[in-house]
Amino acid sequence: MSVLAIIGGSGLTQLEGLRLLSADTPHTPYGAPSAAVLRGELAGREVLFLARHGHPHRIPPHQINYRANLWALKQAGAQAVLAVNAVGGIHPAMDSGHLCVPHDLIDYTWGRAATFFEDDLEHVTHVDFSYPYDEPMRQQLIAALRAEGCAFSSHGVYAVTQGPRLETAAEIMRLERDGADIVGMTGMPEAVLARELGLPYACLALVVNPAAGKTQGVISMSEIEQVLEAGMAEVRRVLHRLLAGH
Ligand code: HPA
Repeated sequence: MSVLAIIGGSGLTQLEGLRLLSADTPHTPYGAPSAAVLRGELAGREVLFLARHGHPHRIPPHQINYRANLWALKQAGAQAVLAVNAVGGIHPAMDSGHLCVPHDLIDYTWGRAATFFEDDLEHVTHVDFSYPYDEPMRQQLIAALRAEGCAFSSHGVYAVTQGPRLETAAEIMRLERDGADIVGMTGMPEAVLARELGLPYACLALVVNPAAGKTQGVISMSEIEQVLEAGMAEVRRVLHRLLAGH
């Protein structure tokens, strides 16, 4: 099986149980990645791990150097990328603690370096992005979630917002009208940069709060922290299953 790179988000800045073989912070043409690229063994498989927000967690979503991160993983030998993301729930099924394997996304971010294809080009390059997530990887994830007995949705549209602030209730209503089921800040340009590098990419999203206006009152950061802790423990179990082949 190919070398899988895991990009951990909020609540997953390290991979417990990883038998560490090396930690390198490579230089890339785009600068430094968020943290060292860890190479190790988990559930008998070679994996790479990168903490998206740095370790400790310090880089906000709009300041992450997504290009350096993807470039560094590819350079380290990644053949596929699994992204773990904490998100807000829009669809009624997307309760706190629910897991979702999105099948599509809508990009609302702006001002982020979102392509490798811009300098010193011989010709203008457009990648196909009709289906941003790799279907075989999605199916492997779904099988691992089933085997683990998780509450999850096998489909969902991920709205990617700019952050770092959370959305207004009216913005969430708009995203819902657009067809979004979950909302987060880090799904793009990560997914398209993986596509540009030819790396199959899938996302495992953990719902950590009802999106703005989907609950009485305001969004509580302490509640998010609590859901993150329990939810990421479940995500780790799913990752083990996935790597062990269920
Ligand atoms: N909105 C955007 N990003 C998020 C949220 C949210 O409600 N929760 C976690 N990441």
